[in-house]
Amino acid sequence: MPEPEFVVTPWEVRGEVDYDKLIRRFGTRKITKKLHRKVEGYTGEIHMFLRRGIFFSHRDLDWILDMYDEGEKFFLYTGRGPSGHTHLGHLIPWIFTRYLQDVFDVELYFQITDDEKFLYHPEFSLSDTNSFAYENILDIIALGFNPEKTFIFNDTEYGKTIYRLALEVSKHITFSIVKAVFGFKHSSNIGLVFFPAIQAVPCFLPSYLKGKNIPCLIPASIDQDPYWRGISRYVAPKLGYYKPAQIHSKFLPGLGKGGKMSSSEPETCIFTTDLPKLVVKKIMNAYTGGRPTVDEQRKLGGEPNICPVYQYYFFLFEEDDEKLEEIYKTCRSGERLCGFCKKILSGRVKEFIAEHQRKREEARNSIERFMLRD
Ligand code: TYM
Repeated sequence: MPEPEFVVTPWEVRGEVDYDKLIRRFGTRKITKKLHRKVEGYTGEIHMFLRRGIFFSHRDLDWILDMYDEGEKFFLYTGRGPSGHTHLGHLIPWIFTRYLQDVFDVELYFQITDDEKFLYHPEFSLSDTNSFAYENILDIIALGFNPEKTFIFNDTEYGKTIYRLALEVSKHITFSIVKAVFGFKHSSNIGLVFFPAIQAVPCFLPSYLKGKNIPCLIPASIDQDPYWRGISRYVAPKLGYYKPAQIHSKFLPGLGKGGKMSSSEPETCIFTTDLPKLVVKKIMNAYTGGRPTVDEQRKLGGEPNICPVYQYYFFLFEEDDEKLEEIYKTCRSGERLCGFCKKILSGRVKEFIAEHQRKREEARNSIERFMLRD
């Protein structure tokens, strides 16, 4: 079989992702201007992530908003697989989740899949992934979710509650289905084969706990889509629940040439725990696609479309659209040089990380306020 030009699965993102093609491949829908206007109706202004097409695809977002208009509130569900420290890419869906919680004043269920990462990484023990989980939880709390309406749980610690529902889900999912959706092989361990049932559970958990059907909206990047497409949405009608709706984001790239930010390449990744000096070093070493000499750069201009430094302004570090446009234009024209551009960015990232780290430390005192326990 020929190699696909790009691969997007929950465990691997490879090649240059064509997001329009991905919409067709996964069978999701593009977020239209009409939907932007609908969201704007609740918020007064449209979030930068929507305006810039960073959140670009969805399933049933229109339905969930219509239900909301009719007085049926949804809950939010998102998560983290604790395989190490949190990086800036993870923050994209979480920042957006916080915005949705603020705007719609809804509950959030936050699943931490310490079981998944234990099963996936041969080198990790359960206590490794559980301690990463508590590191990641600090980052989640630091983003300012509403403590009255946010429920975080680690799979290995909340098993008594989720296991019953996971069994209900798993009874409807054959090995052929998970093999087709996730590409499992004969050598895959059976824990991983069962795991999709566990990630499906929170889509129905509040309905199960409260004994009434509650719509679910999942903000996440598009790599997590197979869980919803292949498992949750398939079993929902069989179990008598609503199909969960989704809103999908694109990937924040790493600091190297191509590819998403991923902990497996730590030197191209900015972790929320990095020291300021390291943040600056990583950014100053970033790939930009710049020309070999200043003269050539001035003459030919830069290539913001392939430059991760520009992408960082675009995703997180320049909220003003006019200023962003200025960065783009002056880069293209050769007026703005890479060294200068990196220096400005590293100052902003350093400041962001320092503030985040301060909130992260504060979060140590409030973990239990957020945790769901059996
Ligand atoms: P994990 O830990 O791989 O990723 C956590 C969230 O971050 C998103 N993400 C990114 N977004 C933008 N740019 C990137 N470079 C980037 N890298 C990762 C992921 O899409 C995800 O939203 N199995 C899941 C944990 C999980 C979950 C969920 C995630 C359980 N339930 C429900 C989302 C929604 C995992 O390992 O995520």
